[in-house]
Amino acid sequence: MGFLIECRTCGSQVSSTVKMCPNCGERSPEPYKDRLSAGAKKDNRPPLSESMTIGAGGSPMDFPVLETERLRLRMPTRSDASDLFRYFSLDEVTRYYDLDSFTEIRQAEELIYTWSERYAHREGIRWGIVLKPSPGRVIGTCGYHNWAKAHRKAEIGFELAPEYWRRGLMTEALEAIVGYGFSRMALNRIEAYIDPDNFASRRLLENAGFSEEGYLRDCFFEKGRFADAVLFALIRRDYVEVHP
Ligand SMILES: CC(C)(COP(=O)(O)OP(=O)(O)OC[C@H]1O[C@@H](n2cnc3c(N)ncnc32)[C@H](O)[C@@H]1OP(=O)(O)O)[C@@H](O)C(=O)NCCC(=O)NCCS
Repeated sequence: MGFLIECRTCGSQVSSTVKMCPNCGERSPEPYKDRLSAGAKKDNRPPLSESMTIGAGGSPMDFPVLETERLRLRMPTRSDASDLFRYFSLDEVTRYYDLDSFTEIRQAEELIYTWSERYAHREGIRWGIVLKPSPGRVIGTCGYHNWAKAHRKAEIGFELAPEYWRRGLMTEALEAIVGYGFSRMALNRIEAYIDPDNFASRRLLENAGFSEEGYLRDCFFEKGRFADAVLFALIRRDYVEVHP
């Protein structure tokens, strides 16, 4: 399944599955599968310059919009705060999250601000998820944080409003951002730390090809207590094997 990427020559949005930009003829969109396999032959690590593709200038203008069959993944903005507040105020959403349920819309605004600052400093990227028929309403978010460029790795995170659970939507979003992470951010390793009881996240990650690597005791201090975590990871070479 493809998603939209930006042609580095003319800047137009083109499908990740095409070999050549239909607008300017440039081959620079380089479908990520080609780039991955080409890179893997010489060196598992792609050139560092490629890792800078994420928001070339870290400005909202550069923010990569990804598309899947049902979803558009775009930059969350302050005007999305009420959508985020609506679902982040529900305990069922924050149960396994390192956040207490929101009680004020200001908390959603601050979260969006944190994500935009991270993006501006190229420390991470968080997409707002909208359904294509209703692009004004954010139904969840997903993305990368703790991006350790020297080690070519980052952590993935995600959440969806409960009324959209169990429709395969996050599976679809994850497929797009994992592809983006390996191709455009030049990641070699994508990590996910989940609560041991978070069965939905476990299943989601396993389906996406992540492997369970270990049980981490007292891994985080959150909500006033130490919490265990299970570490999942997806390695570039394993991903390439199933996405040749
Ligand atoms: C985790 C979450 C994003 C999953 O999103 P989703 O769109 O419902 O997931 P999908 O529909 O793509 O389902 C992925 C897999 O997980 C399974 N799954 C999803 N929710 C489940 C649940 N509550 N219990 C058991 N399995 C579940 C699905 O059945 C599917 O597996 P299958 O295809 O083998 O049947 C969603 O449950 C959520 O937002 N949870 C709250 C926030 C959260 O915990 N975030 C993660 C913090 S680490």
